[in-house]
Amino acid sequence: MSGKLKVESGKLLVEKHVGKIGNSTLNSQLSILKSSIALGHTRWATHGGVTKENAHPHLDCSGNLALVHNGIVENYQELKKSLKKKHKFKSQTDSEVIVHMIEELRGLISSKVEPSTKVQPLKDTVRKVFLKLTGLNAIVVMNDGELVVAKNGSPLVLGIGSGEYLVASDAAALLPHTNKVIFLRDNQMAEITDSGVNIFDIASDEAVTPKVEILNWKIEEANLGGHKHFMIKEIYEQPKVIRNISETYIDQISDLCKVIEKAHGTFFIGAGTAFNACLAGAYLFSKIAKAHVNTIVASEFNYLEHFLHKETLVIALSQSGETIDVIEPLKRAKEKGAKIVAIVNNLGSTIWQMADYKLLLGAGVEMAVASTKAYVSKLSVLILIAYGLVNRLDEGRKLLAEAADEVERLLFEEVENIKKIAKILAVHDHIFTIGRGLSYQTALEAALKMKEVSYIHTEGLAGGELKHGPIALISKGTPCVVFAPNDETHEAIISNATEIKARGGLIIGVGSKKSEVFDEWVQVRDLGDASIICNVIPAQLFGYFLAIEKGLDPDKPRNLAKSVTVK
Ligand code: AGP
Repeated sequence: MSGKLKVESGKLLVEKHVGKIGNSTLNSQLSILKSSIALGHTRWATHGGVTKENAHPHLDCSGNLALVHNGIVENYQELKKSLKKKHKFKSQTDSEVIVHMIEELRGLISSKVEPSTKVQPLKDTVRKVFLKLTGLNAIVVMNDGELVVAKNGSPLVLGIGSGEYLVASDAAALLPHTNKVIFLRDNQMAEITDSGVNIFDIASDEAVTPKVEILNWKIEEANLGGHKHFMIKEIYEQPKVIRNISETYIDQISDLCKVIEKAHGTFFIGAGTAFNACLAGAYLFSKIAKAHVNTIVASEFNYLEHFLHKETLVIALSQSGETIDVIEPLKRAKEKGAKIVAIVNNLGSTIWQMADYKLLLGAGVEMAVASTKAYVSKLSVLILIAYGLVNRLDEGRKLLAEAADEVERLLFEEVENIKKIAKILAVHDHIFTIGRGLSYQTALEAALKMKEVSYIHTEGLAGGELKHGPIALISKGTPCVVFAPNDETHEAIISNATEIKARGGLIIGVGSKKSEVFDEWVQVRDLGDASIICNVIPAQLFGYFLAIEKGLDPDKPRNLAKSVTVK
């Protein structure tokens, strides 16, 4: 659902659509109109269905004040009660409440407002209203050729172009226009007028000197560069990403190792793919560094934080650095005095700003919703940290360099085989993926990648768990992708594959040795602890080719967003 708004000759023009961005039927009629100010938003539905009425921007009763909003106004029902009598609500959203509150406070609700009546400056009203909202929110308000933005928890970044200002919730969106940005901090607001940008602290209302930063991403990274989709482009960028980490991440890894060594109690937290990397981290730390770390999906960390204290270290992994499920528990951990490490891909993001220690993933802009190169960069960094903790950093770096070569080989030599297997998988409604040890998280990540872009139900399991329930779902032809590197898990996972085959399952093996139990096989060279990097590549490609086979857009899967900024 998306909406746009422009001002022409002092009049607001609004256009809203339900559907996919880029769909030709949604082409904007506004594009032919001339205006020096515009506001657009893609809504990810939280309150109220996917309808035109609920799409942003939301207008006040007069139609002169417009707002887009990211986040959830947790106290919106209470706020709405007092407005209902005077104001006409057109949507079921929490967002619309904000625009009516601004209208109310500015005294704009009465049609009898005399032209001579002194109306409060927009910035002052927005500030007062924003202070009344609970929850994590970011808003952009537009009135009379002026924009006022405010943020707490949800992302907002300002772009400084040549003769123009831009506002976005993700720095990557600004890249085609400018690489000069100001990352608003939590509880800051900005007014953007013809004469420039002014930033304020929301609580004190004091002016803040803006810090302009330069994005070191290249514009090409935000373009398809000859590829059909960002997902496949980003999959093919992975050897470069791994090599860069292997060659240049030395001092920062050593510094981080010192921080980890000092901590008493270390937690890895992340969501989705980032959590799968956290799980890999726990196994890598145990196996290589003989160190114990706790890991838990970030959205559950709030309920398991009772052990946190001043010497705890919470390491947050996130591509966007804006995932609310990660930000919330980090805030609570900070309140308890724990130290925060951010391992993120987006410079200046909220998690980046919150952290006491920071490490940038350096994967470059990741545009596809399905995370591929950012995941592999997390695995690479975690491998180096684990080796760094036992003073074997060079060994880790060498392993990564070999992994980069193997990933490259897979992308060129195994791709046709993988495409062929994807065709076999595409007709199924259910797929299973299994692994043990370090490959357990590969099984989870493989399942996530395949399901999110193909919409085929794919379940990732620890090999040993099959017989505790899921094997009941195996029948004739049920496909199962088996991650079988030549490590301590090999024999046991092949036994699990045999158990599935005995019940009619179709076995797709991923590993260095061909087994009799495999019906199909993707050969991946063994690289010890770095095998987790190589083994996930076939799964990423399965996901991509499944989506293509089913005629789906792998870059923008239904119901998903690149940055998940709501709970
Ligand atoms: C990955 O393919 C997913 N789309 C999703 O699970 C993602 O990894 C998750 O939302 C976390 O995002 P983050 O890394 O930006 O925090």
